[in-house]
Amino acid sequence: MFGSALSAGVVGKAIEKRLLSVNVHNLRDFATDKHRQVDDRPFGGSPGMVLKPGPVFAAVEHIRASEETPVYLLSPRGKRFDARRAEAMAGEQRIILICGRYEGVDERVIQHLITDEISIGDYVLTGGEVAAMVIVDATSRFIPCVVGKSESVAFDSFSQDLLEHPQYTRPRDFRGMKVPEILVSGNHEQIEEWRLRHSLEKTWRIRPDLLARKSLTQGEQRMLDDIQNETKGNTHESH
Ligand code: ADE
Repeated sequence: MFGSALSAGVVGKAIEKRLLSVNVHNLRDFATDKHRQVDDRPFGGSPGMVLKPGPVFAAVEHIRASEETPVYLLSPRGKRFDARRAEAMAGEQRIILICGRYEGVDERVIQHLITDEISIGDYVLTGGEVAAMVIVDATSRFIPCVVGKSESVAFDSFSQDLLEHPQYTRPRDFRGMKVPEILVSGNHEQIEEWRLRHSLEKTWRIRPDLLARKSLTQGEQRMLDDIQNETKGNTHESH
């Protein structure tokens, strides 16, 4: 599952340039019984299988260079992964990601082995592998030189708790749909103001939860008040 995710695109390039490295391990290699079984039926009875503690402990103990290496279990029951977590992970020398499978993972892994249980969203995947790739991808963008200009990470959606403003490229007129005049005016101050305004507006409409946790500057607050008042005005007119 990891082949093309680790060889193609920006992540593939970064690995080629040795800006990061990813080692994939097979839990089965750490099973000790003759069938190399990594899962078993849950005590107490319920449908599905549970990942056994033995192979997971053995794998982590084999892989981890020091006790300090954080170990994350990917699971829908975990803390939500976000840009802040990605940036923190990028600052670690090494991290270990355990991909859960089956109905669950033996609780002793969660209690005594891992640093945190991490979820990439409120839905259940068939396994943690895709989630691990999401984490590798989002985290690698915070490693210096992985993404072209480092400023493009700092101003991305979420890094400032705002969604990114709209972007346009040529042609200026596409099938009668025109690029906003300000963006082609060359007036950088006005362009910046336009971008901030549209970031605020997009965030307010689509992700008000992001705005609720962000502390706005006076200028931003005034702009947001304006946007909200304008919308109220428009609603009135349209009635
Ligand atoms: N494994 C299954 N579902 C998951 C999710 N939402 N996030 C991380 N790992 C998972």
